[in-house]
Amino acid sequence: MNSKVLVVDDQEHIRQVCQENLEMDGFEVFLAENGKKALEQAKNTNPDVILLDVMMPEMSGWEVLEWLKTNDDCKDISVIMLTAISNPTEQTKALDAGAADFIVKPFDLEVMIARVKAHSELKRAKDKLKKTNKELETRLEQANHLAFIGMESASIAHDLGNVVFQTRIEKILRKKLDKLWNQPGDQETYEDIIGWIKALELSASELESIVRGLAYLSSGKILDKAKTDLVSIVESTTMLYSRRASKQHVEITFEKQSVLVNCDISFSRVIINLLKNALEALSSVPLEERKRKIKISCGEKENEAFFRIEDNGPGIPIELQEKILQGHTTKKNGHGIGLSGSHKIVQRHNGRIEVASEPGNGAAFTVFLPRVF
Ligand SMILES: Nc1ncnc2c1ncn2[C@@H]1O[C@H](COP(=O)(O)OP(=O)(O)OP(=O)(O)O)[C@@H](O)[C@H]1O
Ligand SMILES: [Mg+2]
Repeated sequence: MNSKVLVVDDQEHIRQVCQENLEMDGFEVFLAENGKKALEQAKNTNPDVILLDVMMPEMSGWEVLEWLKTNDDCKDISVIMLTAISNPTEQTKALDAGAADFIVKPFDLEVMIARVKAHSELKRAKDKLKKTNKELETRLEQANHLAFIGMESASIAHDLGNVVFQTRIEKILRKKLDKLWNQPGDQETYEDIIGWIKALELSASELESIVRGLAYLSSGKILDKAKTDLVSIVESTTMLYSRRASKQHVEITFEKQSVLVNCDISFSRVIINLLKNALEALSSVPLEERKRKIKISCGEKENEAFFRIEDNGPGIPIELQEKILQGHTTKKNGHGIGLSGSHKIVQRHNGRIEVASEPGNGAAFTVFLPRVF
């Protein structure tokens, strides 16, 4: 495609001579005899270069230039000003006002053509660069999206592992039911069974949230957020682990104050990962040494919503604390996905996770979220 030049001059012979010579050099040429027509032509023909006379009646070349440079569709067109007298201040003024170059009238045709050529090539190179940049940006966005999907799938698969473990409850239930069958009046076994059924129900709803998360991932859409009381999510998710806690002789206490947050369905995974980590940490504490404890608090602090999970386990070495949210594990069968995945979910909720631990003296993870009303 030929380069396009718009020649703007009120003198007909100048327009003509420019047109003839530029066309001979392969340019597609458009003409305008005043500023108003120049603006129309600039918008309609989208030229690469405009040769613009400064001295024109009604609308001067300066006004045309100002309009071009403030108009989004035209601001990238290279403008060469035709200045009538060899006036250095006028030439500087042209460059300051955003012109690409200037030519002093009367001009040498070879010089004019050489400058138009140089600026049209420059303009085309810039356009190409812009297009390539745009393509690169799109590819980068796609690559980021793929990386996100990769990390999210790993974290979902990890959480799915947790739930599959929970659904093994079914086997335990069958054994308990056999026991009740043999001892029909056994109240303790009966209550035990009710508790396991509740845990099973919660597992099912957790599974549902993971499946919804997978659907969200494949659709590439953002999960819907709903206004929720943080206490209810923390409490119901903690119930999932209450039986495991009592089996491990861990006492869980809950300090709660209602606070509303905007949460999507993936949020319970954060609580699960923090609780699971606390329980795993406490399993290394000898029972005869101290009582294993988890304290959960939930509420509002300095106008932010928060929940905290604290344990009195072995704590976290200082050097690990700094990188703990980036994907590190110290466990034989660990993946380092629990916290990094949770970190991403919290970030998606415009929140943050704070880690506090004095090695040997337990660990506390606090999640802050924007509070809503
Ligand atoms: N409450 C805690 N007390 C002590 N160390 C902890 C605690 N929570 C996390 N950590 C440390 O942080 C590391 C990273 O935790 P993260 O949940 O990301 O991975 P993981 O538990 O090792 O494996 P997984 O991906 O299966 O959850 C753990 O390996 C452990 O060393
Ligand atoms: Mg973990």
